[in-house]
This record gives sequence, C-alpha cells and structure tokens, in this order.
Amino acid sequence: MMAGMSTVTAILNQKGGVGKTTLALGLAAAAQERGDNVLVVDLDPQGSAGWALGVEADDDHLAVGDVLRTGDPRVAEAAVVISGWGKGVDVLPSSLGLIEREADSTDPAASRRLRNALEPLADRYDHILIDCAPSLGPTTRCGLAAADGVLLVVELSALSIRGADAVMATLHHLEDGLNPTLDLFGVVVNRAPAISIEADRQVEELSRHMGRRSVWSPFIPQRTVINEAVGHRLPLHDLGYRAKDTTRIFDKLYSRLNETAHSTRSQDRPTSSAKAESNSEAADSAPDAQPAAEDQSAAVA
Ligand SMILES: Nc1ncnc2c1ncn2[C@@H]1O[C@H](COP(=O)(O)OP(=O)(O)OP(=O)(O)O)[C@@H](O)[C@H]1O
Ligand SMILES: [Mg+2]
Repeated sequence: MMAGMSTVTAILNQKGGVGKTTLALGLAAAAQERGDNVLVVDLDPQGSAGWALGVEADDDHLAVGDVLRTGDPRVAEAAVVISGWGKGVDVLPSSLGLIEREADSTDPAASRRLRNALEPLADRYDHILIDCAPSLGPTTRCGLAAADGVLLVVELSALSIRGADAVMATLHHLEDGLNPTLDLFGVVVNRAPAISIEADRQVEELSRHMGRRSVWSPFIPQRTVINEAVGHRLPLHDLGYRAKDTTRIFDKLYSRLNETAHSTRSQDRPTSSAKAESNSEAADSAPDAQPAAEDQSAAVA
C-alpha cells in the first residue's frame, strides 16, 4: 500500500492445513520480538489466527466481515483489537459471516473494499499480514486486492506443488485487473523433512515452477512447539529455550520479508535498488534449518 509505511502481505494457499496461519503467527511473533507493529487480518471464517492471538470470537463486535461489506475505514478502525499477545500485534478478527459472503458476486468494487478500508491504517503498522482461508474464492480475492505481495505456503509434495500453479494462475489474472501491482513475495516451505532425496527432488521441482529466487529459506521444519504455542495462545518467542531454533527460523523469514518489502518499495527509488538487490541475493542461500532428530517422531500435525 503506497500511501503508508506498512507492507500488506497475503498469506496464501487454497490447500488447507499447509501452514498459512502458522506462518502468519510466526511472522507476527518475530515482528513483536523486534519491536515492530503488525496487524493480522484474519480472513478465514475458521478464525484460527485470531484465536491463537488470544482474541475471542464475538458476534457483537465488529469484524472483518463488516469491513468487507462496507469498505469503510472507520469500521476497520473500530474492528481492530489489541491481541492477547500484547503490544505490537493487533488483530482484525474474522467473522463467521464470511462463509455467506462467498456467495457474493465477484464485483471488482466489492473486491476492493478491504483495500480501501485498510489504507488509512497503513501508517500505523510495519506489516499487515492477511491470513487467507484455504480458498481462492471471493473473500480471498479481496485479500489479494488489498495486498502488495503474496507469500505462498507449500509443503514438499507433488500435489502441493501442482496446487501452486493454480495460485500463480490466479495471481497473473489479478495482475491484469483487480491488482496490477501484486507481487509474489516468495514461497515458504513448511514441514520440510530433515534429509530426504525425495524432498530435494521436490525442492528442485518447486524452484523450476516458481523460480529459484522465489523459494525462501530457511524452510520451516515440523516442530511440536509450534502446536504448543497455539495451544497456549502465546507467541512462539514466549516458549523459552525449547522454541529457540524455531523462533530463529521465523526471525529469519521475517527479515526476508522486510528485505523484500524494502526492495519492492525501492523499485520506485532507483538509488536504493542496488542495495535491495544484494540483500535478496544473500538471502537466497540454501536452507540452513534442519530439524533435529529428537523432534521427528514426536511431532504429529
Ligand atoms: N511446521 C509445523 N510443525 C508442527 N505443526 C505444524 C507445522 N505447521 C503447521 N502445523 C500445525 O498443523 C495444523 C495446520 O496448520 P495451519 O493452521 O497453520 O495451516 P493452514 O494452512 O492455516 O490451515 P487452513 O487452510 O485450515 O487455514 C495446525 O495445527 C498447526 O499448528
Ligand atoms: Mg489457516
């Protein structure tokens, strides 16, 4: 969103359970740890992100469905709440009514309402993270219309990588109309196995599909602490030493998001683009996060 300081990132995959909400929460935790301000927009009627952020679903309170319906910045402002994680992380809570909204037309004006409503909030946050539902339907399109870029979350399976093609087709379609400046910020790999020839092959395949530079590192390993944090409705960073290696991974992904956001913005400012270029080059190295053996058997999604 050019007017303000924040970068709006839609976290996407039409496939369920791949780790979209996990990434949104991990990035929000990393941002909070660093003293940044983020707004998490819970665009999924399941409301998982809001719940994990300690926000109670409440039919009486304004929520994202009201924002989608009205496109009114004052409604958005009134709907935003401070998360249970405390300072630095705010939430625009989900609405159950989002399900009904899916029946709406794909009217472009309606699709831009979220974008319009969020625009005045942009200068309060470093990042606005939109946690999308597992769908490429009308509500997700509203999220994409509001976003500067997309983070696609994938697992290393043939089906997941095939699904990424459908997402890319949707993004290209949006570039033609609803959101001509929408970028693919990157592809984040979740539940990466430690060492596996098959996984290596899938990474190759993914890089070929998406472009090598689009695939971010480090990958996110399978980790029980991720589920524990959700269960306690706490940021991963509050779980102490057991979560240390996992928090480091989200810290790195958050740094990468900042570099990407910076280089996206500096495309309009040629003087700083050389720096941004070298930053993303450095971040392009091979994944350096390998799951420790102890966690392999314990972690079940
Ligand atoms: N790397 C991981 N290690 C351990 N558990 C994980 C990991 N990634 C995700 N999970 C767990 O798997 C489940 C699904 O993850 P998550 O909710 O992030 O997926 P999602 O893509 O947001 O799902 P949906 O499409 O339903 O919104 C959650 O219980 C989450 O805690
Ligand atoms: Mg989710």
